[in-house]
Amino acid sequence: MNKDIERILVSEKELENIVNTLAKKIENDYNDKDFIMVGLLKGSITFMVDLMRKVDLDFSIDFISVSSYGSGTKSTGRVNIQKDLSLPVENKDVIIIEDIIDSGHTLDFIQKYLTAKRAKSVKICTLFNKPERRETEINVDYTGMVIPDEFIVGYGLDYNEKYRNLPYVGILKPSVYS
Ligand code: IMP
Ligand code: MG
Repeated sequence: MNKDIERILVSEKELENIVNTLAKKIENDYNDKDFIMVGLLKGSITFMVDLMRKVDLDFSIDFISVSSYGSGTKSTGRVNIQKDLSLPVENKDVIIIEDIIDSGHTLDFIQKYLTAKRAKSVKICTLFNKPERRETEINVDYTGMVIPDEFIVGYGLDYNEKYRNLPYVGILKPSVYS
């Protein structure tokens, strides 16, 4: 295990099961839809790559990158687009793929942004959800796992741009960020 990890919260096997369950739900709900999965860079990449291969339907994918975090563990609440979509979303059913919802500011912004671009529908699929930390009301359509208020890394999730490559999700030792 990585030396900065205190303990593993979700193992590789558990992640696989969670992703399979979400993929089946999406497959059921979207089988007659013209849809696009929009991954939020960079945290969602691992999740998106695993999820999309399990959804046996025709769809396209795109990515968007926004920033609201500095290098710390708390959201600033301000959101900027760093890399915009490359495909049009007008009249498409969009599923936003996110690693984790914390304050909710990032997804609140993206959902409004996609709605303003006239997506037909905008739903949210998040691997992790920390509802205790919510600062803005958002409707989450697909949640992999609800977690307590702890800072996690791995499987795409970072702290200071590190640990994204870990195949499991772990809790960082507090000494790493204090
Ligand atoms: P929100 O705007 O506060 O909901 O922030 C969501 C974003 O914050 C996610 O896309 C992550 O990049 C980051 N984030 C929130 N909590 C964690 C965590 O526990 N570990 C790693 N990144 C996190
Ligand atoms: Mg992120």
